Amino acid sequence: MRVQGVVRPPGDKSISHRVLMLAALARGESELTGLLTGDDVKSSARVLRQLGAEISAIRDGVTVRVSRAPLTAPRAPLHCGNSGTTARLLLGILAGQRFAATLTGDASLRRRPMRRVTEPLRAMGAQISEHGDTLPLTIHGGRLRGLTYKSPVASAQVKSALLFAALTGGVPVTIREPYRSRDHTERLLAHLGLEIHEHDSVVSYQPSGVSVPPFKLSVPGDTSSAAFLVAAAVLAEGGELLLENVGVNPTRTGYLVVLERMGAHVERVNLRDQGGEPVADLVVRPPPTGLNGTEVTAAEVPTLVDEVPVLAVLASRAKGSTVFREVGELRVKESNRLELVAANLRAVGVHAEARGNDLHVEGNDRPPRGRVETASDHRLAMAFAVLGTVPAADIRLSERRSVAISYPAFFKDLKRIGGGGAHDAARDRD
Ligand code: S3P
Repeated sequence: MRVQGVVRPPGDKSISHRVLMLAALARGESELTGLLTGDDVKSSARVLRQLGAEISAIRDGVTVRVSRAPLTAPRAPLHCGNSGTTARLLLGILAGQRFAATLTGDASLRRRPMRRVTEPLRAMGAQISEHGDTLPLTIHGGRLRGLTYKSPVASAQVKSALLFAALTGGVPVTIREPYRSRDHTERLLAHLGLEIHEHDSVVSYQPSGVSVPPFKLSVPGDTSSAAFLVAAAVLAEGGELLLENVGVNPTRTGYLVVLERMGAHVERVNLRDQGGEPVADLVVRPPPTGLNGTEVTAAEVPTLVDEVPVLAVLASRAKGSTVFREVGELRVKESNRLELVAANLRAVGVHAEARGNDLHVEGNDRPPRGRVETASDHRLAMAFAVLGTVPAADIRLSERRSVAISYPAFFKDLKRIGGGGAHDAARDRD
């Protein structure tokens, strides 16, 4: 395919969750624009409304107004849908509330580990029912104590849950991560004038009696959603793609660093600040001499954790082999992404395998053909749809609806920039 066009990717999912939650805690009315309208963000809005927040309808191009009534005990379980960020960050918020609430989610979310959040929250004084490691969980918040915590995983969800607990409980917290994870919560708190300190991979929040003020904020475009279109443009046979208003926070753009190493340069133009986040327009052209394999290090993984599926797809078209080190966290995402990326690549004619916690991919230039099991995981559906754009590909996805989680207009946008092949080849067999 030839790539051509201009696309404005949807609002950043991570930031959309956080601004909704912070606005629901602020005293007064906040105005949010550019929010993602995907299912995950609607899950956050739904549970916040159940807790008493007033949130206007979330629709494309519409300013969302959020005002807080004091949060109150919900009358029914809080259903977090497919969204790990909703569940884990909400546990942090609820740790500082003096009532009980039960959280649950869909079958995928009910399989995902929660102990990484419940353990430190318990250490802060929250009471959380002992059903084991997974949802449903009942949390009874209340008087908390401060915590200094060494997290075994580099997870922004864990870090943000603890920051939210400190915020709602009015206690100090210090979190050390093995590697620094995405820092949107820290940037937002600083942007709103709250005391937050970051140094390397240690974050501290010291409450100073200042509450969250109401705010106006425009959410940048999601660099993780943009990554799929960047990948389609990199695999194209010619042309140029412009992606407007994309977040380029360095804790998220590891995929651009890896792409550069693989031989594809993505230009950032009009770099600016938006609500404390760096934003740019991205210009992508296919690299004239194709892609080369590379090694993605363990330290890079937190900066591209959601982009491993699409980078693996690109690696399958590169010269030589690529290894992703220490990507075991992928086993506990919306699906077992580590095993499914490898199995699906094999299903379409690529040598790929998970060895321990590493993912190995051998590039080739044969047309990829076969059936892909997405396990209703949005990022698998989009990554393999991109593979369906290469010449003579025939990729059939087990379903396509899951893209509504993070990028409802994905197939429309892919088709618009020239990737009709994927759209047609990705026949929905449901
Ligand atoms: C997210 C953090 C990441 C990421 C997820 C969103 C967030 O998860 O995979 O899609 O918004 O904080 P972990 O923090 O568990 O790695």
